[in-house]
Amino acid sequence: MTAKILDGKALASRIRQSLKEKVDLRAAQGLKAPGLAVILVGHNPASEVYVRNKRNACKEVGFHSVSHNLSKETSEKELLSLIDELNRDSSVNGILVQLPLPGHIDENKVTESIFPEKDVDGFHPYNIGRLTLKMPLLRPCTPKGIMTLLNETGIDLIGKEAVIVGASNIVGRPAALELLMARCTVTVCHSKTGNLDAHLKRADIIVAAVGIPGFIRGEQIKEGAIIIDVGINRLESGKLAGDVDFDSASQRASWITPVPGGVGPMTVASLLENTLQAAELLDQKT
Ligand code: GUN
Repeated sequence: MTAKILDGKALASRIRQSLKEKVDLRAAQGLKAPGLAVILVGHNPASEVYVRNKRNACKEVGFHSVSHNLSKETSEKELLSLIDELNRDSSVNGILVQLPLPGHIDENKVTESIFPEKDVDGFHPYNIGRLTLKMPLLRPCTPKGIMTLLNETGIDLIGKEAVIVGASNIVGRPAALELLMARCTVTVCHSKTGNLDAHLKRADIIVAAVGIPGFIRGEQIKEGAIIIDVGINRLESGKLAGDVDFDSASQRASWITPVPGGVGPMTVASLLENTLQAAELLDQKT
């Protein structure tokens, strides 16, 4: 079998186009453009690229974009004070603090300081709790983008064996909650999992989010599996590679996401969707 490509780049572009139309419609109704504040602390090169993509996407769809680039010496108190200001700023519907943060700042404390209704990353315990209880509001962007991609295949997800490799707060755990809500049978594997091969072999859907280039190879997967590759690993050559060995996996999979151009653009599209949702929730309240 040769896998069909799950083209996140093309799908994200269609989503942005549709969001742009919704922003224009809002303007015609006298409603403000949704506003997103993106905070970057320090100079992590990967984070700088992600943040630039998020800010550019905001501008493309006509959102109001607020940028804060803080030095790596910024104290936790200073960051919390900026978030407090943005929480109270009515032109800002969404607040995103790019992770990871420098070691002296408590990420959990920062995440919890964002008002849940402005938490467009969906990382606040309130939003994670709602997802856990099958009543999602603002959903974590990468897992939400994965679900949009899976729905694009047209395959019925009910009862499918989904195996997630990686148990991070940002991807693995919320992806498990999303797939469970879609009524898959979900297994989460991580660095202490004893027999990863046995789990991978029976998976109808594999979500790879470990951050190791080429970690999963075609020989390890079932014929016809759907492969979602969340990894964005920069090789020494400068090229990007996923967590899945694309050439061998695409010989056996039915669908596969490429890197780049798979999950990455969908994370950004989901962030924009969440920001519009946050603005609409606020409109309903006022
Ligand atoms: N770092 C890696 N992925 C993400 C994400 O989706 N949101 C934030 N805030 N930081 C990240």
